[in-house]
Amino acid sequence: MTTGKVGKTMGSGYSRLQDKVILVTGATGGIGVEIVRRLASEGASVIATDLDATACEDLVAGLSEPGRHHAAGLDITSESQWIKTVSDVADKFSRLDAVINNGAIGSIGTVLDEDLERYNRVIAVSQTGTWLGMKHGGALVEKTGGGAIVNICSILGTVGGMGNSFAYAAAKGAVRTMTKNAALYWATKGVRVNSIHPGFIETQQLLERYEGTERYRVMVANTPMGRLGRATEVAAAVAFLAGDDATFITGSELNVDGGWTAA
Ligand SMILES: NC(=O)c1ccc[n+]([C@@H]2O[C@H](COP(=O)([O-])OP(=O)(O)OC[C@H]3O[C@@H](n4cnc5c(N)ncnc54)[C@H](O)[C@@H]3O)[C@@H](O)[C@H]2O)c1
Repeated sequence: MTTGKVGKTMGSGYSRLQDKVILVTGATGGIGVEIVRRLASEGASVIATDLDATACEDLVAGLSEPGRHHAAGLDITSESQWIKTVSDVADKFSRLDAVINNGAIGSIGTVLDEDLERYNRVIAVSQTGTWLGMKHGGALVEKTGGGAIVNICSILGTVGGMGNSFAYAAAKGAVRTMTKNAALYWATKGVRVNSIHPGFIETQQLLERYEGTERYRVMVANTPMGRLGRATEVAAAVAFLAGDDATFITGSELNVDGGWTAA
């Protein structure tokens, strides 16, 4: 857990996100929490958003210097909520340096047994929600004078995984190509757009659902490093791509997968 004060950082030894304002979606999920903590620990003012506004407030209250941050309920599928949230950010901070499109939902069905209603919901949240974050958040980043968008994708955005999670793979494949398309649109306008592709990450939710099962065993066995990833390891990659260490990186995909896609 990273709970450093402004001016102190975990790992890097300097505050590379000092004075940056960064919005995170899906902030109270397993990976989102660690993204928020890491960005805050590196000096950023974080806008923590998720479906449950109270959970976002609790998360922010637990950060060092909570007054520097902001919490808001945001359903990423709602364009009107995006417009309001970004407008509130502009009013409160007068800038936005980065958007971390992390919120998503998954699916487990295959190409044959995926349910149409579930498929459409997964696309709405995991794909369209990411686009709306780029559209509305990215516009304010551009107005600020440039910055970064980091889209949390998945190894299932590039490879077939275990031949299930079909709708999720459809959404994440789109996130991968939307990232590159938007990166080219903004290439000369100062907004960098990159995607992070986690392998299987040992969040509490994943452990509760799969620990001890055959699926869990296969996840570990198929990861060349022989273990699942940690949410903090995804958060570290986010902090890098969101900040000024990555100023010549756009349209790229960063696998945080223990070697899964190299095999
Ligand atoms: N955990 C993994 O193994 C893994 C692997 C690859 C990619 N990812 C990606 O990492 C990101 C975070 O995943 P996680 O493991 O923390 O999942 P999680 O389910 O713990 O967190 C996802 C968050 O998204 C939020 N969310 C769901 N619908 C939303 C909506 N309509 N509007 C706003 N927020 C919404 C949820 O409330 C939740 O807090 C996701 O993009 C996921 O696809 C996770």
